[in-house]
Amino acid sequence: MAKIEFSADFDWGTASSGPQSEGSADKPHESLWEYWYAKDPERFYQQVGPKITCDSYHRYKEDVAIMKELGLKSFRTSIQWSRLIKDLETGEPDEKAVAFYNDYINEMIAAGVEPVMNLFHFDTPIALEHEYGGFKNKHVAELFVKFATTAFTLFGDRVKRWITFNEPVAHAKGAYLYDFIYPNEVNTRSYTQANYNILLAHAGSVEAYHKLNLDGEIGIVVDLLPPIPRSQNSGDLLAAEVFDLFTNRIFMDPCVKGEYADQYLELLEKHNCNFEYTSEELELIKNNTVDFIGINYYQPQRVKAPARLPNINDVFMPDWYFDNYEMPNRRMNVHRGWEIYPKTIYDIAMRVKNEYGNIKWYVSENGMGVHDEDRFKDETGMICDDYRIEFIQEHLQWLNKAIQEGSNCQGYHLWTFVDNWSWTNAYKNRYGYVSLDLKTRNRTIKKSGYWIKEVIANNGFEE
Ligand code: BG6
Repeated sequence: MAKIEFSADFDWGTASSGPQSEGSADKPHESLWEYWYAKDPERFYQQVGPKITCDSYHRYKEDVAIMKELGLKSFRTSIQWSRLIKDLETGEPDEKAVAFYNDYINEMIAAGVEPVMNLFHFDTPIALEHEYGGFKNKHVAELFVKFATTAFTLFGDRVKRWITFNEPVAHAKGAYLYDFIYPNEVNTRSYTQANYNILLAHAGSVEAYHKLNLDGEIGIVVDLLPPIPRSQNSGDLLAAEVFDLFTNRIFMDPCVKGEYADQYLELLEKHNCNFEYTSEELELIKNNTVDFIGINYYQPQRVKAPARLPNINDVFMPDWYFDNYEMPNRRMNVHRGWEIYPKTIYDIAMRVKNEYGNIKWYVSENGMGVHDEDRFKDETGMICDDYRIEFIQEHLQWLNKAIQEGSNCQGYHLWTFVDNWSWTNAYKNRYGYVSLDLKTRNRTIKKSGYWIKEVIANNGFEE
């Protein structure tokens, strides 16, 4: 047996988000999710909405105590725009929210858990979606920078790691391209403009943060998915290239290198769906690249040339160029319907090293969603999630290999800490090191939680 060893300062943590863990108590505004659930509960699994979630708004001290017990070094959550900001136009904060986030952050620091604060996890205040069309409108990007500046000013003396957006492409895809997030538009122009405006909000926030001269760093979390083409045929290769442009390079290139890939801009031009921009904005993007990157990885993206060619009258969609490829005999997590393929985490790590200047990065989410985990309880009531331990172990082995080969990966955050509410899937898929009882909201450490405690204490594990 060989030891898979990580450095003593490797950052072992977990990730969640405000809208998925806090609950709605005391918020001055509704987020998109609270509004959408009230309007259309049928779209949510078992018709369960975000009102309570893990109730971390009231129970965060219990969470932090368990993080400490497990030896977890950091925790990413998000500050909800719709909670922190009372006046969305000026960025003036809400007093109750300031007190809550101050206490939460202080509690983590006192327990030796570094707070990693994200500012957007798919949760636009609904008033901004209705008044302005959300991120399709540049004014909303300006308002986001005001919100971010308020957060930096209030908490930047203690929070040393900031994230502007989590998976911005997923949000724009869901809201404006593929109809899985309110307002459920299907429009490529809206999609490219919203992505660009989010990039402006991001770059403006990076600029604002650096101007404040605080002692800390700022980055973004993306779901970088190197696509795997079905074959080396030209159609399959083109499918992979276009998928890569619209999903990965669309944020990685401007956030790390300061500009979009020419091929991306050429494609938009060709299909007449370019976004509106100014040369000053492009300068802002160029001058405000990130200090680090967070990368979420769950499953690989296999692609193939599309089966059907578009009709000349169709409105352009990026997937004119690619279809998902459901490779026969893939190893699947049958619960979530996602493929399990740990090697991709190595490919991601080497891509960051080779194509993105070996920028500092960390795995900001990885995890395995499973249904009805109560089935796996032992006589003490602990969920024995050996499948999750195996999943994490395999990913860590590949990650470790990449680190040995020089990739600048600094940490690993599991999604998630306590099983949380997840958008339209509500509590269907459980991901945590810690289980959540939906009746009492009590927390119980799973077997994987005790396992990671050992891994952290030993800086690794035996293969
Ligand atoms: C990530 C998101 O992409 O996937 C999380 O950042 C989400 O917010 C997680 O909860 C798991 O997704 P799901 O749908 O399986 O719960």
